Amino acid sequence: MRTIALRREQTAQGPLILVNAAHPLTGGPTPELTAPDALHPKILLERQAAHLLDACVRAAGGWRAIVPVSGWRSLAEQRFLWADTWDREGEDFTRKYVALPRCSEHQTGLAVDLGERAEHIDFIRPRFPEDGACGRFRRLAADHGFIQRYRREKESLTGIAEEPWHFRYVGVPHARLLEDSGLCLEEYGDFLRERPRTCVLSNGRRVTVSYLSCAGGGVELELPEDACFQVSGHNDGGFIVTRWEAVS
Ligand code: DAL
Ligand code: ZN
Repeated sequence: MRTIALRREQTAQGPLILVNAAHPLTGGPTPELTAPDALHPKILLERQAAHLLDACVRAAGGWRAIVPVSGWRSLAEQRFLWADTWDREGEDFTRKYVALPRCSEHQTGLAVDLGERAEHIDFIRPRFPEDGACGRFRRLAADHGFIQRYRREKESLTGIAEEPWHFRYVGVPHARLLEDSGLCLEEYGDFLRERPRTCVLSNGRRVTVSYLSCAGGGVELELPEDACFQVSGHNDGGFIVTRWEAVS
C-alpha cells in the first residue's frame, strides 16, 4: 500500500471543484489552457476539457455547426461581465445569468458556453437548441465528461437560472453518475458521502467514486501501489476519490 498525504488547501483544487456563490474560488494557479477549436483561438479551456470538448463537438457535427462562445475567464473579465450586464440588463437578469466574480466556473477553465452557429449569437444567453448538432452534442456530452450544469429544476440549488448552453467538464465517470442519478453538482458531495458509488464505463471498465472528508490541516489516503486513481478537491472541505478498476 502507499499513503498519499493531502493538504487542506488542496480541497479547493482539481477538476471536481464545486464553484457557486457559497463556494467561491480561493485563488490557486491558473490551469494549463488551450483552445479546443483552431477556428476560435481566443476561447480557452483547461487542457483535458478542451480535448474532450473537441472530440464531442466533432462527433456531434463539427465546429462549423457549434460555436464556442465563452470559455476560461479571468477574474477581471468576470468582474467586467457582472458590472456590464448589471448596467445593461439590471440586477434581476444579472443575478440569474451571471455568477459573481470568484464564483464563476468559467474562472476554472472547466466550463464552456456553446451556441448554435448563427449570424448573431448572444454572448450571455446563446441559443443551444435540442435538435440538430446541438441535440447530438447533448446526447454525447456525458460520455465525453460534460454535464449541462444549470437546469430549471435545480435553480434553487445552483442559484442560477436554466442555462441550456453552459456545459461543465467533470470527467466521464462523474458525468455519467450525475446524469444517471439526476443530480446537480451541488448534490454530488452528499450523494457520495452516503456511500461510494460505482459506474461501469462504455468500455466495460468499472470505476468507484468516494468522498473523503478533510478534518483539520490534512488527511491521508491509503491506496494499493498499482491503483489507477484521481483525487480532486470538491471545494467544500473534502476530496472526491476516483478509482479505475485494474484492467486484467
Ligand atoms: N453564466 C454563468 C453562471 C457564469 O457567469 O459563470
Ligand atoms: Zn457559462
